[in-house]
Amino acid sequence: MFKPLKIGEVEVGFPVVLASLAGYSDLAYRLICRSLSAPYCTTEAMLDRQFLMESRLLHRLVRLDDGDHPVAGQIMGSEPAVMAQAAAVLSRSGFDVIDLNFACPVRKVLARKRGGYLMAHPDRVLDIVKAVLEAVPDRPVTLKLRRAFQEKDTSSQAFWKIAHGAFKAGIAAICVHARSVEQKYRGPADWAFLARVKREFPDRTVIGSGDVHTAADALRMIEQTGVDGVMAARGAIGNPWIFRQAREIAAGREPRAPGIDEQRELISLHFRTACDLYGPGRGLRIMRNFGIYYARQHPHPARARMAVIKVRSETDWRDWLETFYGQPDS
Ligand SMILES: Cc1cc2nc3c(=O)[nH]c(=O)nc-3n(C[C@H](O)[C@H](O)[C@H](O)COP(=O)(O)O)c2cc1C
Repeated sequence: MFKPLKIGEVEVGFPVVLASLAGYSDLAYRLICRSLSAPYCTTEAMLDRQFLMESRLLHRLVRLDDGDHPVAGQIMGSEPAVMAQAAAVLSRSGFDVIDLNFACPVRKVLARKRGGYLMAHPDRVLDIVKAVLEAVPDRPVTLKLRRAFQEKDTSSQAFWKIAHGAFKAGIAAICVHARSVEQKYRGPADWAFLARVKREFPDRTVIGSGDVHTAADALRMIEQTGVDGVMAARGAIGNPWIFRQAREIAAGREPRAPGIDEQRELISLHFRTACDLYGPGRGLRIMRNFGIYYARQHPHPARARMAVIKVRSETDWRDWLETFYGQPDS
C-alpha cells in the first residue's frame, strides 16, 4: 500500500525517514534510528562556510558510518559559490544526497540571509540550486522548503517559483515543511498545502514534514496528502521506535510500544555510541538532553525527566538509568 521512496537514483525504501534536526540528527542518533529500521536520515543543517577550511569541526561534521546509508548531508548558506563548494565536499565525503536548507526560521540565520530568509528570494535560491547541481552532477540534490515566508502569504508565489524552477533545473526531490517561516514551529502544519504540492507535481518526489507526532500520523500524512515520503522530526526525538511502529502499522499490525527493558537497552546503546564517537564529556551532555525526550516513553515521564535534568556526571547518569529503568539481567 505504501510505495517505496526513491530520491533520484537512491533507493530509500520504506517512506518514513528521519528529518534534519539541529542538535539531534547527529551520527550517534542516526545509528540508533537505523537500529529501529529508519531507512534514510538527514544531518542537521551545516553552515556552508564551515566547509571552506580544514578543521576538527569539519571532520566531525562529515564523519559517516557504513551503517548510516543512504544519508543526506544538509547545508545552509547564501552564496551560490560557497554552497557549491560545500556540496562538493559532502559528495566527496560519501554523503548519498545533498540537501539544501531554505527553511530554517532562527532569527540569527535570517539576519545573515540564510535558511528561511531565502523563501522570500526565489531568484537567489535558484542561483544556489544551479551552482550546486553543477558542482555535484553525480548526487541527487534535494531542497528543504517552507510553505511561504510570511504567514499571511496564502498564494505562496515564491514557493511555486522555487519548486518549478528547481525541478526544471534538475533537483531530485523537495521536502516541504508545511508551515511558514514566520510561524517557526507554532500552530498547525498545513497538510492541505502538501496535497496541493503533490497535485502540482504528480511525477516528482515530494516529501512532507510537519505535525508528525506518531507513527500513525506519518502514514496518515501519506494517505491524506499523497506525498511520496514523510519526515519524522519532533516525533522522532527520543522516540526512535516511531520507525518500527510505522512499519508495523503499514503491515497491518498493532504498533508495539517499547517495554522498560527495551528502553534501557536502547538508551544504554545510545550512551555508548555517543561516548565512543564524541568522548565521555560531550557524550554525557548530549545524552542528558536526549534523556529528557526518552523520559516521555517512561511510565513516570515527569519524574524521569526531572531526574535526568539533574545529571552532572557519568555516575549520576548510571544512577538515573538504574533508578528508572532497572538493572539489566546478567
Ligand atoms: C530542534 C529542531 C531542530 C531542527 N533542525 C532542523 C535543521 O537543522 N534543518 C532542517 O531542515 N529542519 C530542521 N528542523 C525542522 C524539522 O526537520 C521539521 O521540518 C519540523 O520540525 C516540522 O516537523 P514536526 O512538526 O513533525 O516537528 C528542526 C526542528 C526542530 C524541532
